[in-house]
Amino acid sequence: MTLISDRLSKFKPSLTVKISQIAREMSLSGEKVISLSSGEPDFDTPTHIKRSAIDAINNGFTKYTQVDGIPELKEAIIEKFKDENGINYNLNQITVGVGGKHVIYNLFMSTLNKNDEVIIPAPYWVSYPDMVILSEGRPIIVETEMQNSFKINANQLERSIGDKTKWFILNSPGNPTGNVYEKDELYEISQILLKYPHVNILSDDIYEHIIYEKEFFNILNLEPKLYDRTFIVNGVSKVFSMTGWRIGYGAGNEEIIKSISKIQSQSTTNPCSISQVAAKHALKNEKIFLKDWLKKFEDRRDLLVNFFQSKKGLDPFIPSGAFYLYVSCKGYLGAFVNNQKIRSDIDFVQFLLQDAKVALVPGSAFGKSPFFRISYATSLEDLKEACQRIDNSLRKLNK
Ligand SMILES: Cc1ncc(COP(=O)(O)O)c(C=O)c1O
Repeated sequence: MTLISDRLSKFKPSLTVKISQIAREMSLSGEKVISLSSGEPDFDTPTHIKRSAIDAINNGFTKYTQVDGIPELKEAIIEKFKDENGINYNLNQITVGVGGKHVIYNLFMSTLNKNDEVIIPAPYWVSYPDMVILSEGRPIIVETEMQNSFKINANQLERSIGDKTKWFILNSPGNPTGNVYEKDELYEISQILLKYPHVNILSDDIYEHIIYEKEFFNILNLEPKLYDRTFIVNGVSKVFSMTGWRIGYGAGNEEIIKSISKIQSQSTTNPCSISQVAAKHALKNEKIFLKDWLKKFEDRRDLLVNFFQSKKGLDPFIPSGAFYLYVSCKGYLGAFVNNQKIRSDIDFVQFLLQDAKVALVPGSAFGKSPFFRISYATSLEDLKEACQRIDNSLRKLNK
């Protein structure tokens, strides 16, 4: 009998977390690594939010709370959906978890039976397929192309729907490409979904506010008839730079919300009481810091786009949201360094980690090769230095 359960062999650990860890270890051993692999803004959590948490501690708000969130936070979430998205919910339709990741995990745990299918457009956020597998479901990966802005279209979606399809995942602005679905694209997708009442929609809106030039729409803004079948996930990690506070939330069908609460009651219990107060405060106050953050993100994006566009063999997709650049490295496949052949995006990323000391994530982690993802949630200075180092390293590759 083995000590570790068979369940563990069915899915992979998060490659993005692993690469960040390798980069951290290299830094600890004295190497000057620039890590552009992780998905968190480099900005500090705004002071007024931190202050609200300190007040919560001083006021003794340090005990267990309601399992799936305090009513005051749920009220703030309801207000957010009403004011920012024009979507109405009541208290029984809201759940709060330990980050958006936790909410999605609980959603799949509470709704998937063995071999139920989840349609996931690729490239995808690393955790979706593995969370589906962990919940005994089957990820149905639908590959998208850069020339279509890495978006699934209505035909592709319809072809991938079967009797066992339970969820379709829509993530816009998207990780890892930063693509944003337009109104008409969402409308077309919504009309396909209307034809298949057994398919539910997971709308992962976590990058809602990290958006440039374009406007954010949820699919419910285009087709309110999907209301009962749409589950929205969002959180405070990205928009308020609160990744470590671990608060995410979900909104949707009451039966699902109750099931998620049941799972939480036997696993995590409530998310951190102090973080809940901070999240409430974050949601209820104006996001005055956001304009400055978005300007910084845009400047960084432009710097990287210009750099990679100037490199023969590399081809960046220009993002309209999130803080990632997804770059094709097809032109470097087959290149040699020290008699070693670059065969894949993993080889390419490994070479840059060893030679340039720049940590990136290979596209294979997101189900679409040969690409790499570079996170620009890092200072402009570090990004300039990273570009310089990458440039030097690329010169060592014989194409
Ligand atoms: C697309 C997407 N969804 C959800 C999450 C979860 O974020 P968190 O668990 O920090 O709220 C992330 C984080 O990287 C993400 O990129």
